[in-house]
Amino acid sequence: MELISLRHVSKRYRTEAGEVRALDDVTLSVKRGEFVAVIGRSGSGKSTLMNILGCLDIPSSGQYHLAGRNMSHCAESLRAQVRGRQIGFVFQGFHLIPSLTALENVELPLLYRGFSREERRVRATESLLRVGLSQRMTHRPSELSGGQQQRVAIARAIAATPPLVLTDEPTGNLDSTSGDEVMDILHTLHSEGKTVVLITHDRAIADTAERQICIQDGRVIV
Ligand SMILES: Nc1ncnc2c1ncn2[C@@H]1O[C@H](COP(=O)(O)OP(=O)(O)OP(=O)(O)O)[C@@H](O)[C@H]1O
Ligand SMILES: [Mg+2]
Repeated sequence: MELISLRHVSKRYRTEAGEVRALDDVTLSVKRGEFVAVIGRSGSGKSTLMNILGCLDIPSSGQYHLAGRNMSHCAESLRAQVRGRQIGFVFQGFHLIPSLTALENVELPLLYRGFSREERRVRATESLLRVGLSQRMTHRPSELSGGQQQRVAIARAIAATPPLVLTDEPTGNLDSTSGDEVMDILHTLHSEGKTVVLITHDRAIADTAERQICIQDGRVIV
């Protein structure tokens, strides 16, 4: 069963220097439960693709279906709803809120998703346990290592139990040991049934995925 389906998707940006074709006729699909790496060089269109897969942006042309639902022309308010229910995001920069503890950082998006205070606490605590941070719940981001911060970001991404985890260079700011820990967690999530789409320029990281999709100059190449 396909979770993600892109058909002839293009994304064009208008700039003063002219039009940039960041994605050019991309067709691909990802099944539920797959772990797929999207690999390509800087500027190849990876983040543009992630923005579309993550319903942060819409294609200029072509069709995007997520869980059978056509997202191609979807308004931002509906896309926000779909993001909240379906997708956990993990980015290269951890995007934690500096003034909040690890626990509060994980709880915050659950507030927007309508979970009760008690449910937020239970889910955030469980998520931090799953990424091995039971001893760091009341630390602020500045009191955590980069790898620990990224694990908080993963806990935040999974706390609402979305079926899809989208991650753009999750190990890009980490040393190799912390990077390996983050990859281990992503693989565990996959083994528990999550669909994982991981964006990277790093061949070694892409090779740990079940399947690779190569992107070059906005096009999928074999
Ligand atoms: N908002 C924008 N406006 C204009 N051009 C853009 C915009 N966003 C991206 N681009 C262009 O689209 C192309 C693809 O960019 P994208 O960010 O998707 O690449 P990337 O593969 O994620 O690169 P990196 O590995 O450096 O993150 C690039 O040529 C970029 O300059
Ligand atoms: Mg990018």
